[in-house]
Amino acid sequence: MEKQFPHLCTPLTVGRTTFRNRIFSAPMGGTDIANDGCIGDKSKSFYELRAKGGAAAVTVSECMVHPATDGSHAYHLDESILNSLAQATYCADAIRRHGAIPSLELSHSGMFAGTYMTDKSKQKSLHQWSASDGVRADGVEVRALTKEMIKEIVASYGHVAGLAKRAGFEMLMIHGGHGWLINQFLSPMFNHRTDEYGGSLENRCRLAVEVLKSVREAVGPFFPIEFRMSGDEFVEEGYHLDEGVRIAQMIEPYCDIIHVSAGTYQKTFGITHPSMFTDHGRNVYLAAEIRKHVSKPVATIGGLNDPAQLEEIISSGKADIVYMGRALLADPFLPRKVEENRPEDIVKCLRCFTCMAERASTSTRRCTVNPLIGREFEGDEVTPAPVKKKVMVAGGGPGGLFAAYTAARRGHAVTLYEKEQETGGILKSEQALPFKHEMYELSLTYRRFCDQAGVRIVTGTEVTKELCEQEKPDALIIAVGSKPIVPPLPGIERCVIVNNYYKEADKVTEDVVVLGGGLAGCECAIHLGMEGKHVHLVEMRDMLAPDANVRHRPLLLKEIDRYVTVHTGLKGLRITEEGVYCEDKEGKEVLVPGTSVICALGQRSNDFSALYAGAPFVRVIGDAAKVSTITNAVYQGYHAALDI
Ligand SMILES: Cc1cc2nc3c(=O)[nH]c(=O)nc-3n(C[C@H](O)[C@H](O)[C@H](O)COP(=O)(O)O)c2cc1C
Repeated sequence: MEKQFPHLCTPLTVGRTTFRNRIFSAPMGGTDIANDGCIGDKSKSFYELRAKGGAAAVTVSECMVHPATDGSHAYHLDESILNSLAQATYCADAIRRHGAIPSLELSHSGMFAGTYMTDKSKQKSLHQWSASDGVRADGVEVRALTKEMIKEIVASYGHVAGLAKRAGFEMLMIHGGHGWLINQFLSPMFNHRTDEYGGSLENRCRLAVEVLKSVREAVGPFFPIEFRMSGDEFVEEGYHLDEGVRIAQMIEPYCDIIHVSAGTYQKTFGITHPSMFTDHGRNVYLAAEIRKHVSKPVATIGGLNDPAQLEEIISSGKADIVYMGRALLADPFLPRKVEENRPEDIVKCLRCFTCMAERASTSTRRCTVNPLIGREFEGDEVTPAPVKKKVMVAGGGPGGLFAAYTAARRGHAVTLYEKEQETGGILKSEQALPFKHEMYELSLTYRRFCDQAGVRIVTGTEVTKELCEQEKPDALIIAVGSKPIVPPLPGIERCVIVNNYYKEADKVTEDVVVLGGGLAGCECAIHLGMEGKHVHLVEMRDMLAPDANVRHRPLLLKEIDRYVTVHTGLKGLRITEEGVYCEDKEGKEVLVPGTSVICALGQRSNDFSALYAGAPFVRVIGDAAKVSTITNAVYQGYHAALDI
């Protein structure tokens, strides 16, 4: 078979290990970690899905090597704990049985230990360890590791490496980037030591080299060891690419793969995990530069999700391996679709950060576009329905499309009705915002899945009680979504409703007021600012975008700072040709000037009360049930279809 992406699909041999292609799954923490530090079954299934999807290697994330001085990611390997080795073995085995190489990331968080604790109050009473004394931004005391402690930590890397090999892991990733302990030693920002572990680059690299030697001694000469580093820390006081190159050269003799990531987790989060406001592959040049100066295979990572770009990275010699994190949550089967020449079927990551935010808020994982994530253990197969039914889906937004697709995969006869001429629902409006184009593309991808699965799609038709009576479906999924809230303000008819902006962009002038500072209003304001317009954003509350998740919101606010003039605490009164007249907290009238206005004041569920008795099985999903997220709409749509 002729491969559309031949370089991506070419196996790579390192030592005696052959990787089936060049697509590797990045470390992403599972969440099911038992109180004794054992990796749980849910996490095992989480990693297994990526192996099933065709990745050449799957990295199990952040195994703490020295719990006595680390406490960030509570998973560790300790043969004195019943089940510790067994659970690790089950996990490695679950990856290996699908043809992927199981890799384990060995890590120490150093001064950033404890940041993931559920009980945040405890974190304040701890002190943490790093290269040098100091105080963390959150007030936690940091103490310099003694040489004896360093020795113990180095030895523990070796010890855990040996256990990992025994458990069946066939590769190890040593985490030396993102601001964790080894990076804290590499970085002049954190490392102010005056002994042989500080000062010169050679001294700052000493811990990394000692760790790599300790690991090598434990696993033997042919076992692939990968070193994860930040090519550039992107902080003034940190190191930059020129030193990144020299670090790579220093560690090269002691490892087999150099994995070039970027930034520090605590300070440059949106670079380490490139946000939707940055280019895909914005960090590839770091790997490309380092690759020119070393002879070992080099891996790149960061915001990658497009096979054409991945292929170009490998074929042009910028890197030997492409790692992906979020893209393989969105679509674990991306590598298989690449191998099968089906790039158009890839569900692209939106870089919305639901995956990471969910961990912060509920200690679980979710993904907006993939309802299985975090719940893989419950089963990832869509099984055929024992009795084939006639299914009607009302509404062609993301939830409705995914429900229809899933029901059709189960063998039901599915018709989806969309009252507008095009499917996509609220996602249609995203086509106007380049940084959210993937969200729009999602509607096209789900639509394609529906077409492929044999869903009959009827557009321009609203589901009514009469239609249900005429069609007599066995099951009805109500996915009629929501509509914009448009308050009866004088002059409101002058506004462009944010959902219609994609059709009415020509009505928006160079001086524009966005009324409403929720997520939709903020993102539209940023886009208009990026286009060079003068944008004023008016919000009644004191806070912008409270509906944005905890990871996306700080990055969004940075863009707002760059592009938008913000007015909080103002209530819109009337809209005129001069702009929006508002009332401030003291009751004073102020004018926010602008020659056009965008109204982004939220959404309200559409009424579906006439459809309650539309079929023997009725399920209401997504915004129709309660205005919330695409994540919920897709998740509920999937499960509604499984329940029929
Ligand atoms: C949900 C999630 C969990 C992560 N957990 C870890 C981790 O435990 N260890 C680590 O080194 N990196 C972790 N990362 C960072 C990724 O390995 C990767 O470097 C980053 O997401 C950028 O790649 P991407 O743009 O392909 O997602 C995590 C990323 C995500 C999205």
